[in-house]
Amino acid sequence: MAEEIRYAREFTGGDDRAAAVSVWNVHYNYHRPHSGAADLRPLITAPGGWHQPPTLLHLDIRNFCEEVEFWREVARQLAAAGMVVYLGARDLARGRAAARELSTEGDVRFMPLDVADQSQVDAAARAIEAEWGRLDVLVNNAGIGGTRPAVEETTADDFTEVMDVNMLGAVRTTHAFLPLLHKAQRPRIVNVSSGRGSFTVDDDPERMESRLQGLVYPVSKAALNMLTYQYARALPGFRINAVDPGFTATALNNHTGTSTPAQSAATIVRLALAIEGPSGRLHDSTGQVGW
Ligand SMILES: NC(=O)c1ccc[n+]([C@@H]2O[C@H](COP(=O)([O-])OP(=O)(O)OC[C@H]3O[C@@H](n4cnc5c(N)ncnc54)[C@H](OP(=O)(O)O)[C@@H]3O)[C@@H](O)[C@H]2O)c1
Repeated sequence: MAEEIRYAREFTGGDDRAAAVSVWNVHYNYHRPHSGAADLRPLITAPGGWHQPPTLLHLDIRNFCEEVEFWREVARQLAAAGMVVYLGARDLARGRAAARELSTEGDVRFMPLDVADQSQVDAAARAIEAEWGRLDVLVNNAGIGGTRPAVEETTADDFTEVMDVNMLGAVRTTHAFLPLLHKAQRPRIVNVSSGRGSFTVDDDPERMESRLQGLVYPVSKAALNMLTYQYARALPGFRINAVDPGFTATALNNHTGTSTPAQSAATIVRLALAIEGPSGRLHDSTGQVGW
């Protein structure tokens, strides 16, 4: 975390900073009183200059209830940094348990949230609005792999559920939270994508993604990448980026991934914290990646 805070300081050059996560959606805000300050003090400036603890919203999260998952690490780092973290989870029991467990790291709250259900997304936005009146950062993390049939076996129906979560889920949350993000000083959205959705990565023979086949998941992430790009173009006052967290051992790949949770969390946390920098780009642990 110290490294991320240091990075955020160098990257942003100071001032307020805010972050939030969806399936992770978060909002929180930091204020650094002057350059070189020993720590970042949480601050939310409401109309009238009134200060509140930072807030973050996160949607979903099986990972919080399992052993070493990178989302746990992201939430841990954001909460430890002083954000109020709203964990959005569609599984009520696991979501509550995760929020309770992570509350030792900071202010972590549970938010019922299925990103495939517009009414739940809207209710989450209303709850944040009632409590905070704004959202500083939204992190769209929910993602599924689907049944992954061979390319020639894939039918249109195989896309339905995956697109509903991986692409439309991000549209639902982004649309619902935009009015609150507009009220933030430096609104940010981090869409958790994948190298599999990047033409550059998939076309690079040095990358393991180039040896994988499949239609549904890569197409859903390519769509998420284009969403990211188009939202960023339409909203120049926002920082809206996509992240490839790297091949990480999670349920998504039957725990075969090779990156550590800390490595995978780092890029997401970096983009969630930084108030300045590129928008409408895909990032991984090495920096910007081609679409
Ligand atoms: N692991 C990797 O190597 C890797 C690489 C690149 C990108 N990613 C991306 O990273 C993100 C997280 O994946 P992961 O690897 O951590 O996989 P994961 O362990 O399967 O986590 C995916 C999470 O998404 C949640 N989710 C699915 N549908 C949802 C819905 N309708 N509403 C709310 N939450 C929903 C799941 O909740 P439930 O527990 O309720 O199912 C689960 O917590 C995904 O977007 C994935 O595409 C992962």
